[in-house]
Amino acid sequence: MGPELKTAFDQQAFRQALGQFPTGVCVVTCTAEFERLGMTMSSFNCLSLDPPLILFSIDRKAASLSLWEKAEGYAVNVLAENQKEISNRFAKSLSNKWEGTRFAHGQFGAPLLPGVAAVFECIPWAKYDGGDHTLFIAEVKSFSSSVDRMPLVFSKGRYAALQSTEFVAPLWPLDIHY
Ligand SMILES: Cc1cc2nc3c(=O)[nH]c(=O)nc-3n(C[C@H](O)[C@H](O)[C@H](O)COP(=O)(O)O)c2cc1C
Repeated sequence: MGPELKTAFDQQAFRQALGQFPTGVCVVTCTAEFERLGMTMSSFNCLSLDPPLILFSIDRKAASLSLWEKAEGYAVNVLAENQKEISNRFAKSLSNKWEGTRFAHGQFGAPLLPGVAAVFECIPWAKYDGGDHTLFIAEVKSFSSSVDRMPLVFSKGRYAALQSTEFVAPLWPLDIHY
């Protein structure tokens, strides 16, 4: 047997491949130690129906991570297709992210953005090591959605718009999953 050849993991190709999986875009918010936080995230996903759980992950390098870990509630603001500027604003490390941004106060202290496609108000459920990210799992306490608003889509490093087809997907989650 020859020496074991280790192929370098191609991070750029990995990112490119991950970009083939489109997501929506959220601004997840919270208030911790009297500071308002908001971060654009594509890592939001559904996790459990009963109990109602969702997840998102935050980069360990984020300066605000220690504050996020202290938050007693979060709001997941699912952006509508006309909210790309809000997405870009909350994707930057700016100290004045909230300047000129209208918001309402959520029940757990997390700011709620107007004009969104949906909002989920949550409390912490669990946090896990997620490699270079921290995985947050949260329990949904209340939510609302505007079905007439189309969601903003993110894929291949760009924003996209959703185009529906006439094909209906099977009901999911299927009973067979349980
Ligand atoms: C479309 C999009 C999706 C993003 N998703 C995430 C994410 O899921 N988790 C994360 O930690 N950062 C994500 N980011 C980057 C953060 O939004 C950005 O690093 C953060 O807002 C920086 O601000 P802060 O350091 O002041 O908190 C995303 C950025 C964009 C543009």
